[in-house]
Parts: sequence; C-alpha cells; structure tokens
Amino acid sequence: MNHPLVPPAIELRGVHKRFGASHVVKGIDLALEPRAFLVLLGPSGCGKSTLLRMLSGLEAPSEGSLHILGREVANGARGIVVPPGERGLGLVFQSYALWPHMTVRANVEWPLKVARQGAAQRTRRVDEVLALLGIGALGERYPSEISGGQQQRVAIARMLSPAPGLLLFDEPLSNLDAQLRLEMRSELLRVHREAGATSVYVTHDQVEAMTMATHVAVMNEGVVEQFGTPRDLLDDPASAFVATFVGTPAANVLPVRAEGGRYAIGGHVLCDASGGSDSARLLYRATDLSFAAPEATPGDGPRAPATLIEVAPMAGAFVCALMLAGTRIAVVTAVPPDAAPGDTVMVRFPAAPRARFDARGRRIAGGAA
Ligand SMILES: Nc1ncnc2c1ncn2[C@@H]1O[C@H](COP(=O)(O)OP(=O)(O)OP(=O)(O)O)[C@@H](O)[C@H]1O
Ligand SMILES: [Mg+2]
Repeated sequence: MNHPLVPPAIELRGVHKRFGASHVVKGIDLALEPRAFLVLLGPSGCGKSTLLRMLSGLEAPSEGSLHILGREVANGARGIVVPPGERGLGLVFQSYALWPHMTVRANVEWPLKVARQGAAQRTRRVDEVLALLGIGALGERYPSEISGGQQQRVAIARMLSPAPGLLLFDEPLSNLDAQLRLEMRSELLRVHREAGATSVYVTHDQVEAMTMATHVAVMNEGVVEQFGTPRDLLDDPASAFVATFVGTPAANVLPVRAEGGRYAIGGHVLCDASGGSDSARLLYRATDLSFAAPEATPGDGPRAPATLIEVAPMAGAFVCALMLAGTRIAVVTAVPPDAAPGDTVMVRFPAAPRARFDARGRRIAGGAA
C-alpha cells in the first residue's frame, strides 16, 4: 500500500478516450505506487497503446484526469494537457527511431542538449547510461553499424539519459528474436530498478507480463478487467477473460448448464448448481484435471469424455490439449495418456471447480480460486 504522504506515481480517474464515434477507453481508474513495474496486458485493439499515449501526453483524455507523481497532467473536463516534454518521462516504442546521422553517443546525448545541460555533465551522464546498458564500446558507431538488439539498447539509453521518473514502453521487444527478448526482459528490469523509476509497459504477451510485472492491468475492450499482482491474476481471476488469458497453460473455463440442480457440460454432470443460474462457466486449472479409466467404478468423481488433440512435453510434465463438448481444454499430467490424437479419453474432474463465473464471465462470489 502507498504511504499516505507519498502520492501514487501515476493515478487515473475515470479516464475515457473517444475517437469520433468509437469509444476506445471506457472509464479507467488506477493508482500505482512509486517504483512499481506495471504491465498493461490485453489483446490487440483493447486500448493499451491509447492508454499509454494518454500517459505520455501524445493523446488527451476525452474525460477524466491523469496525475503523474502527484501533478495533474491531463484533465478532460478542464482541457488541461501538459506536453510530453514537460512530464518527466521517457518513452520507448516498438520501432525506436534513432537519428541515423548521429553516432550512438550523440543519440544518447541529444535529450541532454535539449535540456541545455553543460558539456561536462552531459559526457558524464552519457558514459553512465552507456555503461548501464552495456554498450560503452559502441559510442562512436552509427545506428546502421550495430545490430537490432544493440539499437534497442541505444533507444533505451537515450530514454534514460535525462533520468526520467516514469518510463513508458510500448511493446519494446517485439522486433527482437526470442533469445534476445528473454535477455532484454531481465535487462530492462535491472535498468528499471537501478534507475529507481516507475515503469508502465505495454504487451499482449502474457508470459512477458507475468515474468516482468510487479502489477498487471488486464485490459479488454477498453476497460481494466483486473488490476493486481501476477499471483492475484493466477490465484484469483476476477473474470473468465482473465482466467483464460493468463497462465501457462491458461486455466480451463467450461460453459455449463444447470440440469436437475447440477451443472453439466454436454450432458456430463460436473458439480452442484445450487444458488446458481441456468448457465455459468466453471474454472478448473489444467493441473486439477487428470485422466481416468473408460469404465466408471463406484465412488468415482465427475468425469467426461474428450477428444485428444495433442500432447506436448513441458518442464518435466505433459500438457495435453483436448476438445470437450466443443471447448478446448488443457490437462497437465506427469504421465501422458495412453492414446493417440483423435482418440477419446476420459477426463476426471475434482468435486468442485476453483471458481464460478456467470454467463457473461463475471466472477460469482463464493467460489474461492
Ligand atoms: N487515432 C485514432 N483514431 C481512430 N481510432 C484509433 C486511433 N488510435 C487508435 N484507435 C483505435 O482504438 C482502438 C485501440 O487501439 P490501441 O492502439 O490502443 O490498441 P492496442 O491495445 O494497443 O492494440 P495492439 O496490441 O494491436 O497494439 C483500436 O480499435 C484502434 O483502431
Ligand atoms: Mg498497441
């Protein structure tokens, strides 16, 4: 929690964004403590970049207000918009346009010249950030003479040189290959910590989000479905959307109908439906499910037949993908099923799901995850 005397690093109150008739950001409230690493996670088109651009000052909110380090930088009703250069922040995008006619040093020094710092101070700071990013040896090269990964480091060094308190990243690693992405993730976190800054990082990659974030805001169609730590999202998903968007593999969310007081999928009874409505969705983790013998024996729990699609080894276990009454599910087991793709296998369920959602995907109180 925030200390009452320390303002949040960023605070959004009732933020909306409309482009003409299209309502893209639909009322976001969020407060983030200093030094946090917030990831905005969500599918393409959900409004992540638009939200980041409002924080940066490249877009103005249609409604609501934004505060950065206690200062109001935008207010839709009062028409306040502090320009990007006066917000004390650094920005890195997917395409990081370095000045091609300037050396690496000159690129990194450029924001300090704009800020009218003296030559000695500039040299000291450029040396410092080049060393922080491990590119001290590249100072005299031009962008065309270094690799894509090195260019991205230069872009980050350039962002850091004026020592911004807030770092904004929009999919900064998506142009890099898988191995380099992994390296740059931990590098970025180190830079974030050493700079003592607060970061907001946009991605649609849930693995990136779950490994980097101190906090995640899961966005869907212009709203934040859940704001919490990566653990909160896994242990206590607020909606069916969140449950199916995070985790490796993501949790199973099964659409069920009430039949004689019990919830069933494709006619196979899974659990008690008392207190619930006619249709619901039930959450089971992939590790909650297992395989059973085809013939039921007395005392068996809930079971349902499913078609095996594929089996993939993962970290000492097997992730099995199956189709169950039209829904794709995942089962993680230590021993793969004795079946081939296309075969029918029997899936065993625990007596109760981890959580229940209503037909629209909202969490129904009572079911602990
Ligand atoms: N300047 C604009 N004018 C009109 N519509 C826009 C504008 N900018 C964004 N949009 C629309 O707003 C919605 C959200 O866009 P945004 O770029 O924020 O999505 P995103 O979550 O960053 O997606 P992606 O993961 O694909 O980058 C999209 O439907 C987009 O077409
Ligand atoms: Mg985007």
